[in-house]
Amino acid sequence: MKIGVIGTGYVGLVTAVGLADMGHRVLGTDIVAEKIDKASQGICHIYEPGLEELLKKNLKNGNLSFHHNLDETIIASDVLFVCVNTPQREDGSADMSYVEGVSRRIAENLNSYKLVVEKSTVPVKTSMWIKKVLTLYKKNDTSFDVASNPEFLREGSAVYDFLNPDRIIIGVETERAKDILIRIYDKFRDRILVTNIDTAELIKHASNSFLATKISFINLISELCEKTEADVELVAKGMGLDPRIGPHFLRAGLGYGGSCFPKDVRALTRIGEDLGVDFSLLKEVDRINTRCIRVFVEKVKKALWILKDKKIAVLGLSFKPETDDIRNAPSIHVIEELQREGAHLCLYDPKAMDKMKRLFPEKSPQVIYSSSPYEAVQGANAMLIVTEWHEFKELNLEKVKKSMANPIIIDGRNLYNPEKARELGFEYYSIGRK
Ligand code: UDX
Repeated sequence: MKIGVIGTGYVGLVTAVGLADMGHRVLGTDIVAEKIDKASQGICHIYEPGLEELLKKNLKNGNLSFHHNLDETIIASDVLFVCVNTPQREDGSADMSYVEGVSRRIAENLNSYKLVVEKSTVPVKTSMWIKKVLTLYKKNDTSFDVASNPEFLREGSAVYDFLNPDRIIIGVETERAKDILIRIYDKFRDRILVTNIDTAELIKHASNSFLATKISFINLISELCEKTEADVELVAKGMGLDPRIGPHFLRAGLGYGGSCFPKDVRALTRIGEDLGVDFSLLKEVDRINTRCIRVFVEKVKKALWILKDKKIAVLGLSFKPETDDIRNAPSIHVIEELQREGAHLCLYDPKAMDKMKRLFPEKSPQVIYSSSPYEAVQGANAMLIVTEWHEFKELNLEKVKKSMANPIIIDGRNLYNPEKARELGFEYYSIGRK
């Protein structure tokens, strides 16, 4: 059985490498020639721990190959995983034109039975549309099946997540499709949940929106903590001890970012509206998330009063640690707000600076990129923690204090112990705690 993976972005590349590492013969393809050139040479176009090693290993053992030609990849494959992106449109809905385009190409190249598996996050009913497109555009009587197999991997631990899944959701409408997918995921047989296609598609959107709701909920509680003597870290701990709630995704901070949560929350809201279901709950989740940035910038203003010409060190640019991804990163909005106030920013991130430079080019003294956190804080009037990289947790705060102009920390991820920071002589602000 040959598996074609169409689209080698985050989901596609990890899927291709992961399936190959499970022993399957995998062919990857992408419309962007550079991604294929790099992947063929064993180079990842994204930073993802462990991915490049596995890519190289599976290129070498012959399980994995990459191809520029989509038609040839389709013809050579028995199963096709569709991993193309579904960007957000102005109205919050997902742009499905890439999925439609790929479906047409599959239809036009249907030379033998194929199972078409939708793996990108898509609105419920997408597979039904893929099926319709395949039926409308196919040129012969060749049969096919469609299926949904949503991907739950987290950036930064994507390889681990793919090879150690909590669950494999398989949405199918025929026994043949079910058998093929169970064979592909045979190793994880005990973790497979088989559903119909609509259910599988909805599980992905519902999971991400639920997790985003947990985050916005705790961020709302953190605002209340700041008006009282309560401590949000302990509130979250106390809540999380109830197994019905669980301890995860209750970290208060600058809110969620990334390529999934913001987009998925808005897409599900939109799907609900289209189908006549009121999803104002999720609109509120989104609103609270946006407010986190404002609340944080207000803290900076409260600490420094006037931001114009103040030197501010911003530590952490990626949307979360262990990734170079800056899509929907809170840092972008924080930087925009601080720039609007006329602050001079010294930015540092272990992995995401190259990507950030494209958005905010270096321009001294307004925007400077530093080669270390210690360089960034030199002469700074305040140090902001925007992403909780482990490197920042381990900083020598005494050294930091000595080189800053004013020892002020505004910690958007509750990385430090407030008492210890104050003992060291810092004026210290964090989220939802005194
Ligand atoms: C997420 C889902 O976890 C994954 O299953 C899905 O397939 C894609 O979307 P990812 O975007 O990589 O993965 O990041 P994740 O680790 O889930 O974090 C999402 C965002 O929430 C980050 O911005 C993170 O900083 C934020 N977050 C997470 C919090 O603010 N508080 C928390 O307690 C947890």
